[in-house]
Amino acid sequence: MKFFVDTAEIDAITELNDLGMVDGVTTNPSLIMKSGRDIIEVTKEICELISGPVSAEVVATDSEKMIEEGRKLAKIAPNIAVKLPLTWDGLKACKVLSDEGKMINVTLCFSANQALLAAKAGATFISPFVGRLDDVNLDGMDLINEIRQIYDNFGYQTQILAASIRTVNHVTQSALIGADVITAPPSVIKSLIEHPLTDRGLDQFMADWAKTGQKIL
Ligand code: G3P
Repeated sequence: MKFFVDTAEIDAITELNDLGMVDGVTTNPSLIMKSGRDIIEVTKEICELISGPVSAEVVATDSEKMIEEGRKLAKIAPNIAVKLPLTWDGLKACKVLSDEGKMINVTLCFSANQALLAAKAGATFISPFVGRLDDVNLDGMDLINEIRQIYDNFGYQTQILAASIRTVNHVTQSALIGADVITAPPSVIKSLIEHPLTDRGLDQFMADWAKTGQKIL
């Protein structure tokens, strides 16, 4: 399963990339706002750091403008995935831009039928928002399961990019179901390593080693 980092913070991307944990990056207008950076400038910088797909989202709501914005964003670097919302205008733009050979990430997916439409419109990635479904007392992982089954039934090549990942359990469940990619905030990716028995075991090894009085170096 690929790991994308859901942030526009260069330091956080660099830290995880140095550990080999970054297969791509996703941004959205809220994350650009949080970064306080210019969208073109920060996206270019991310694309220089990361060779995998970097999602940059359009902000127009009509298809013609989305297409124009998508073309502009795609010019930033060859690894840009143009992010489009799951509306009819977004899907129209998806069809046009994917026919031009651009990578497309269709975002704000909350149902299996929406994911089916995105696949038919030629999306490279579909982004179902797991955490936001949990927020309204639904089970976001059920949606990942349904999309996996539907895409496998018909052989759709659109990659399932589980988004709005908030917990380490979302990551485990996505991997078990067979999501192609998860995108998560750096804090969630960093939490994946945590286990109290690892800490306790290491403390024990260090204490016993000290008693031997030996050195390796
Ligand atoms: O990738 C989508 C993500 O940024 C949304 O996450 O936590 O705002 O629902 P969240």
